Amino acid sequence: MTVTVVVGTQWGDEGKAKVIDLLAAGNQYVVRYQGGHNAGHTVVVGDQKYALQLTPSGVLYDTVTPVIGNGVVVDLPTLFREIDSLESRGVSCARLKVSSLAHLIFPWHQSIDAALEAARGDARIGTTLKGIGPAMVDKVRRSGIRAGEVLNPGTFAAKLRERANAAAKEVADVGGEPFDAETVVAEFLAHAERLVPYVADTVSLLHEARESGARILLEGAQATFLDIDHGTYPYVTSSNPVAGGASVGTGLGPRHIDRVVGIAKAYTTRVGMGPFPSELTDDLGDRLVDIGREFGTVTGRRRRTGWCDTVMLRHAARVNSLTEIALTKLDVLDTFDEVKVCVGYAIDGRRITQYPDTVERLAMVEPEYVTLPGWKCSTEGISSWDALPQSARDLVSIIEKEAGVPVTHIGTGPARNAMVVRS
Ligand code: GDP
Ligand code: IMO
Ligand code: MG
Repeated sequence: MTVTVVVGTQWGDEGKAKVIDLLAAGNQYVVRYQGGHNAGHTVVVGDQKYALQLTPSGVLYDTVTPVIGNGVVVDLPTLFREIDSLESRGVSCARLKVSSLAHLIFPWHQSIDAALEAARGDARIGTTLKGIGPAMVDKVRRSGIRAGEVLNPGTFAAKLRERANAAAKEVADVGGEPFDAETVVAEFLAHAERLVPYVADTVSLLHEARESGARILLEGAQATFLDIDHGTYPYVTSSNPVAGGASVGTGLGPRHIDRVVGIAKAYTTRVGMGPFPSELTDDLGDRLVDIGREFGTVTGRRRRTGWCDTVMLRHAARVNSLTEIALTKLDVLDTFDEVKVCVGYAIDGRRITQYPDTVERLAMVEPEYVTLPGWKCSTEGISSWDALPQSARDLVSIIEKEAGVPVTHIGTGPARNAMVVRS
């Protein structure tokens, strides 16, 4: 197995970073392939907690080269803040590479994101306000600026100035916060200079690494149901988190991918708006928030919570060609009297077998549940399958059967070693 994709199977925050951190030990490259600093990836090592937005989660190993792939949109102030923070904590970022093809985010993207969200009112998406959508719009309409352009300071400066002046008008058009183009230009010329040593032709780099036998992990941000094509549109992000996005966002073709690990929480969470069939809006939902500490890493927002939904996982298994699932946060369910898992959807009393292809239909589904007795004992830190309580093992078996793929990892706490690994 040379190239592995790690992809979220729900609405994000499944614990992707913890699994990547665990798998990274046997890999030489960890590559972010889409999204930007809307991601919040938490890695806990001993008493140290790292919350990463842009830097690939493998950065903590000095045997790993972290790569920001071409599919990522890069916010330079965040990148440098993160590098400074990691380095001040003794984590070297000298090996970090940023794809020359990755697009840059500018402050006007954030102004436009905020203005569009405000204009949507009750129909807002609930974005992270990081400017991801507007930066992706610039990429698709071919007016974006890419990281590689900083290697030619003269043309970069001219293009930056031209874009900043055009963007000032676009921001005014959508009623956004006005900004001074020359101030932004000066700020970003300095950032551009600092970016130069990190810029690389990462597509060739990764192919050469693979051809010489290196093992490569492709780190997804967000998740399947936030995917611009396969997610609950319009309540989605503006990129392709699905496994196919890993090929697009790194340049490693589909046949180079050997393994696709889908990360799923033992329950479900969502930040932002949009339908959520297995949502719990009662005190059981509050308990999941409290015990699971379900507050966004990036925005601090309270996450919505609900039971595990295997209809979602089955669809995620299909669209990502999952080879396996890593189930996280099982320990959060330890104190519940009963644990439910959604195994089907019905609309108007009739069971449906396909995942609904519109949010309107998704909002109509009535979830069907299997109820298991709670195991009512601590699973925290358990690392062997046999040590798990029977009811917890039954939950895993239902998920495997319904999703149609094996569950190879089971998370039992935030710590690196709190994980059952089944061979
Ligand atoms: P990501 O965006 O998918 O990488 O996930 P986040 O880092 O945003 O959120 C996952 C949260 O759950 C983090 O605070 C992790 O430290 C924590 N976490 C991950 N796995 C486990 C687990 O098995 N049990 C518990 N209790 N916490 C976990
Ligand atoms: P990680 O990688 C959870 C959500 C936002 C919003 C929608 C669009 O940590 O799992 P955007 O700012 O991307 O335009 O917002 O997507 N969202 C996430 N939710 N985890 C994330 O990342 C997310 N990144 C974006 O809340 O609903
Ligand atoms: Mg997260």
